[in-house]
Amino acid sequence: MISQPEARELIRLATLAPSGHNTQPWKFSIDTNTIRIYPDYSRRLPIVDPDDHALFISLGCALENLLIAAQHSGFNGEVEYFPDGEAQDCLLVHLHPNSHPPDTALFHTISKRQSTRCAYDSREIPRTDLQALEKANTQDGIQLRVFTEADDIEQITDFVKQGNRHQFNDPAFVNELLSWIRFNQREITSHQDGLIAAALGFPPVSIPRWLGQTLMKVLATPEGEAKRCEKLIQSSSALMLFIAQKHDKKYWVNLGRSFQRVALTASSLNIKHAHINMPCEVLEVRRQFQNYLGLEEAQPLLLLRIGYAQAMPTSPRRPL
Ligand SMILES: Cc1cc2nc3c(=O)[nH]c(=O)nc-3n(C[C@H](O)[C@H](O)[C@H](O)COP(=O)(O)O)c2cc1C
Repeated sequence: MISQPEARELIRLATLAPSGHNTQPWKFSIDTNTIRIYPDYSRRLPIVDPDDHALFISLGCALENLLIAAQHSGFNGEVEYFPDGEAQDCLLVHLHPNSHPPDTALFHTISKRQSTRCAYDSREIPRTDLQALEKANTQDGIQLRVFTEADDIEQITDFVKQGNRHQFNDPAFVNELLSWIRFNQREITSHQDGLIAAALGFPPVSIPRWLGQTLMKVLATPEGEAKRCEKLIQSSSALMLFIAQKHDKKYWVNLGRSFQRVALTASSLNIKHAHINMPCEVLEVRRQFQNYLGLEEAQPLLLLRIGYAQAMPTSPRRPL
């Protein structure tokens, strides 16, 4: 039987997962040999993620961390997705004594993985490492495409810039983003979530909220952001795109599980990653992106750049 402290440690490791704007949109409960993961709708992002797909992707990332950590502690996790008869929608994980050897390499990267948003050094990634990333995508209904050719990258960069312009021209998007930026130490300490300046690549100085908001509104222009993103992509070695076969929450969770495994595998190979999701987030750009990719029902939902760089400051997590 799993003890309470062991179960709490699995949950702590689950919460090191990435989440949109670092909202950490999850709740957990522990029962005898079961852990439940619930969506926390009070942490939704209604503007950038109106259908909650990114919220469920984040839950999938946390679930995958939990399963890898459980395996390392000697438990195999069997997952029921949103079972009937539960008081609330949840992912139900039954923990059984493990018969497989633990995945030590992935376990040790759980606390090292981070979103690294700085410029990369554009070094090529060895083919065998790219293949290892592709092999880490193991979930049903999820496709991973890796782009290394200049033509593809140029086309996709155009979609990113289009998404960027659209978002930074939308005051509702900017206001939602600003509400999750933590501009000073007092905000970081009191919230323990959100986007901290240092992890976004800004100088790690504490400034009052009014000043941070004013600077963002003046400096983060639609065209300036599009150009900044283009440069960051040019510094990267490749792009990675996760596609869900269907647009529903089980597929979104599976996409999160795959992304987390690929991100941990990348970290174990010292390959950094950062999101450039704009063409997946803006619906009209996503439709064009879908056409370009030759997709019909399947949805491109997570786009990342990968490459090599020094680690950046880490983002906070709320205590359990
Ligand atoms: C579904 C999802 C969407 C995300 N979208 C973006 C994004 O559009 N831009 C970005 O810079 N980071 C994005 N992120 C990364 C989060 O901001 C990041 O995970 C969070 O701030 C915690 O930081 P960490 O990944 O370094 O632990 C996304 C993460 C997830 C799981």
